[in-house]
Amino acid sequence: MIYTITLNPALDRTIWLDELKIDDTNRIIKEEKYAGGKGIDVSRVLFNFGVPNIALGFVGGFAGLEIEGLLINEGVNFDFIKISEETRTNIVINTIKTNNQIIISAKGPNIPPFELTKLMEKINNLENPSYVVISGSLPEGLKPAIYAKIIDIAKAKSATVVLDTDGDVLKFNINHKPDIIKPNRHELSRVVGREIKTIDDAVIAAKEINRMGVKIVLVSLGKDGIVYVSQNTVMHAIPPSLKVINTIGAGDSSVAGFIYAKYMGFSDEEALVYAVATGSATTLKPGTALATLEDALRLKDKVKVRYL
Ligand SMILES: Nc1ncnc2c1ncn2[C@@H]1O[C@H](COP(=O)(O)OP(=O)(O)OP(=O)(O)O)[C@@H](O)[C@H]1O
Ligand SMILES: [Mg+2]
Repeated sequence: MIYTITLNPALDRTIWLDELKIDDTNRIIKEEKYAGGKGIDVSRVLFNFGVPNIALGFVGGFAGLEIEGLLINEGVNFDFIKISEETRTNIVINTIKTNNQIIISAKGPNIPPFELTKLMEKINNLENPSYVVISGSLPEGLKPAIYAKIIDIAKAKSATVVLDTDGDVLKFNINHKPDIIKPNRHELSRVVGREIKTIDDAVIAAKEINRMGVKIVLVSLGKDGIVYVSQNTVMHAIPPSLKVINTIGAGDSSVAGFIYAKYMGFSDEEALVYAVATGSATTLKPGTALATLEDALRLKDKVKVRYL
């Protein structure tokens, strides 16, 4: 079974106003709720592609139940740990007249040690995990070592571990050798402590990380596609030029596309093509919508791979 892990999910509440009036009442024209979280998005795309998987993580309170209900409705499987505090709710305000977006990101709940223990028990008891995808930030108060623990447990169970996170949490956990990481340009810059400007910069930095024990480094570069670095192979895959609608969830879609292809038994080159095609397919969808397999297949043959 494939598992995704999101320790800091959020109920995203998007509201539409004509305009944002300060010191006055603003009437909501439309609102939507979305079960947000990077691992959850990987689960969604895998679900879209017909790949069985289970989303793990923490949810609590009314917002947690809302997240579960939304996922039930979408058909996405989950097995969350219920926590005593409430899952955060992020507010996204779209103004129709002025076409602005205001995002108010909430602080996550506090996770007491006994709830963390419950998660670790769950992970310890996973049966035959093939892939474990750890995505996103940690709730406040949890230390980067928690991801290291999850990596160690999953690897001991012979799972392939994918880590997609940022900053000190990513830097710390590279030393614990996840099998695959997928930093974007900025995340990679923060890991190596210098700016990644060119494809060559990305390759050099990814090789350094590969030598530290991460088997596959996928550097996602937005419209410039993805650089793949393993011990013996360096590839660069580029999407066709597209009229992008929004890039929300593109990186998570790329992670799911790569895993889909490996799950199907395809080569790493094919998996890289799927990663680019799936990420790019998501950029063509409005709002929070993510790529379907049909969307990715439409783009797949237009992705160009070159060996470096
Ligand atoms: N402007 C674009 N044009 C075409 N494809 C794009 C564009 N932006 C993103 N993509 C596709 O999506 C993939 C992942 O995008 P990106 O590098 O922006 O990930 P990310 O920064 O991790 O995104 P996320 O916000 O989801 O974490 C790219 O490798 C590419 O295939
Ligand atoms: Mg990302």
